[in-house]
Amino acid sequence: MKIIIVKNEVEGGQEGYKIFADAKKNGAHTFGLATGSTPITTYNDIIASDLDFSDSISINLDEYIGLAADNDQSYNYFMHEHLFNKKPFKKSYLPNGLAKDIDAEAKRYDQVIEDNPIDLQILGLGRNGHIGFNEPGTSREIGTHRVSLTQSTIDANARFFAHEEDVPKEALSMGLASIMKSKHILLEAYGEEKADAVKGMIEGPDTPDLPASILQNHDNVTVILDEAAASKLTNK
Ligand code: GLP
Repeated sequence: MKIIIVKNEVEGGQEGYKIFADAKKNGAHTFGLATGSTPITTYNDIIASDLDFSDSISINLDEYIGLAADNDQSYNYFMHEHLFNKKPFKKSYLPNGLAKDIDAEAKRYDQVIEDNPIDLQILGLGRNGHIGFNEPGTSREIGTHRVSLTQSTIDANARFFAHEEDVPKEALSMGLASIMKSKHILLEAYGEEKADAVKGMIEGPDTPDLPASILQNHDNVTVILDEAAASKLTNK
């Protein structure tokens, strides 16, 4: 893993942007995208740049089950607000959280990923080490799947909702195996509350109990951390 430590998420956003720009320059066509507060500074720098994605494909990691695309808490809405409205892609894929048959939707999404190999995948990191919505204990073999969110994730995401009971309890998430197939993975993490997960991901045992530790097995991972998120690392 290549680790870049920056002062804060604004600097981290610039580093993340550079990785997107390099990938584009080197012919990347399909970008795996993430939601959450972490990638916002990278998306802001992309928006401010002259990068053009009108010939590119985007594939998002996950979506809440039960929220319509126009619900302002859905990940579909988030992506339009924070990126797509200003930087449209030729085609953008997200799981459909309103699909009647969630298993069929998961299969459809796996086909999308298979048909469009991801050149660069951006990830955030959950406080418990989840990536996408692959919570601790998730099998590393399964593809897109229905997830029951852990209480820790519900608590962490409650800040975006008016009431905690509004936070969906389930989501559809790309699987770890699909994430690992991406040619280049960029993970960003900021803030002290991510420090334990960061340490486990980089220095801890490679274990399904901390899903992001699977990235130790990928040969092209770049991690951008601020000093707080890096604070528990032994080897800096
Ligand atoms: C959610 C998302 C993840 C994201 C994580 C961290 O659970 N499904 O993709 O990485 O939250 O969010 P944040 O970046 O807001 O800390």
